[in-house]
Amino acid sequence: MVAGTHGFQPHNPLCEEDTPPNQAAPCVVVIFGASGDLTRRRLVPGLYNLAREGHLPAHFCCVGFARRDKDHGIFRSEMLEGVREYSRSQPVDANLWSSFQEQLLYHRSNFDDDEGYVRLGRLLKQLDSQFGTQGNRVYYLSTQPQYFPVIIERLRRHGLIYDAGSETDPWSRVIIEKPFGHDLASALELQSHIGHHLHESQTYRIDHWLGKETVQNLLIFRFANPIFEAVWNNHFVDHVQITVAEDIGIGSRGNLFENQGILRDIVQNHVMQLLALIAMEPPGNLSAEAIRDEKVKVIESIAPLSTEDLDRRVIRGQYGPGYVQGESVLGYRQEGDVSEESAVETYAAMKLYIDNWRWAGVPFYLRAGKRMPKRVTEIAITFKAPPGHLYDCGLLNNVLAIRIQPDENIALKINCKVPGQRAVIHPVKMDFRYNASFGGSQQEAYERLLWDCMAGDSTLFARIDEVLSSWRLLSPILDHWKSKKPDSWPNYAAGKWGPEEADAMMFDGGRRWRIL
Ligand code: BG6
Repeated sequence: MVAGTHGFQPHNPLCEEDTPPNQAAPCVVVIFGASGDLTRRRLVPGLYNLAREGHLPAHFCCVGFARRDKDHGIFRSEMLEGVREYSRSQPVDANLWSSFQEQLLYHRSNFDDDEGYVRLGRLLKQLDSQFGTQGNRVYYLSTQPQYFPVIIERLRRHGLIYDAGSETDPWSRVIIEKPFGHDLASALELQSHIGHHLHESQTYRIDHWLGKETVQNLLIFRFANPIFEAVWNNHFVDHVQITVAEDIGIGSRGNLFENQGILRDIVQNHVMQLLALIAMEPPGNLSAEAIRDEKVKVIESIAPLSTEDLDRRVIRGQYGPGYVQGESVLGYRQEGDVSEESAVETYAAMKLYIDNWRWAGVPFYLRAGKRMPKRVTEIAITFKAPPGHLYDCGLLNNVLAIRIQPDENIALKINCKVPGQRAVIHPVKMDFRYNASFGGSQQEAYERLLWDCMAGDSTLFARIDEVLSSWRLLSPILDHWKSKKPDSWPNYAAGKWGPEEADAMMFDGGRRWRIL
């Protein structure tokens, strides 16, 4: 068993017996930006569930670092509210909470205030003796991106980030929330700032989608089932569609979204990760580096988009007022903190080609949008039609549809004879459902990723070259859009599947978006 391979162990009890998982080591987790939504919605409920299932290290505590004035008691009661509202396990176990909350502390400071880091250093030492956390640290940066270099620089200046040392030294790791840069140039700049203070092995760039069970299963599905791998190439595959549709709008994130748009918010990270996992070559082993090497190779093999491609093969859109799930909803430009003339896209679709032996000639269609009719993330592999004319009666192509969320499942559409005298053919589905096979409550992505970081496994985090190669591909799109203001927006109503141009792009290739 190679060190750091816990990320992709199959749920096969036989395999688990052979390969005991890594251990989460004693540590203090310091969350920067602890007053924000992520801490109470995902991070603390995630830690609570790790505690509930006995996965937290025995020697552990968590410090919330933020600018607002509050004491430990207020912080704890806010976190309890968060756990009550967002934890996957309900109701909250009162006994467990009363001991767990003792391990939650609050530290008030501005992110650029040196004195705050001096006090943090003293607090951490005291916590080491109180909780036996042995000097090990996870720093979780859940702040606005402009603070990432500020915080990392201060931590280093005050001796709170150590050199990447040997296995037995105390360690410090930094989890950095997305977005890592807002284009290629800014990602390079951010990396050059933090690279002075932090070794790559200490840098955990989080893309929480990699912690989702269904996303982790992609590699196991592909490389533990050779029957699929044999047809996973341009001899058999007609095209691939990746859809990330959300029915929600942008909620209270108007300000943030105005500076991002869907390409930065979802495509550059979540969609590109799905594409890499579905298209990569088998890794030489299951180590973090081997898996990430293959992901980088496939992103780097995507053919760059020419100016003509940028017009024809990349579509953007913005929703106007409409109806979602029967409810009337505002258009994007009417949402809070959004400009009435906003040129920010809430929908993006594109057709890409991966220029390697396996995939040459196979179009990959990607689409992501807010305020679509429903929440659904799916990867669909459409296979080629059978050769010849044996059954010349409008056979549908085989489709393997991997539903990432919700109602996680994998379904293969095949053609089948309808019972009866005549050879009537009808498509049917072979369907595997996660719930039916493994039961309901799955570990949450943040829970899994926090645990992996405490265990020193970076498999499910993005390495710098992955992030840069994705920006290298997508930055020209952003530049192109900046130079050409969209006219006649909004171009799709909330509750529709995006603008007509996206359908036209599909028809051009003689295909259609899947009806989901
Ligand atoms: C986040 C995006 O990374 O992912 C959000 O910023 C999006 O815009 C969210 O809604 C979707 O993730 P999940 O896990 O809620 O499906």
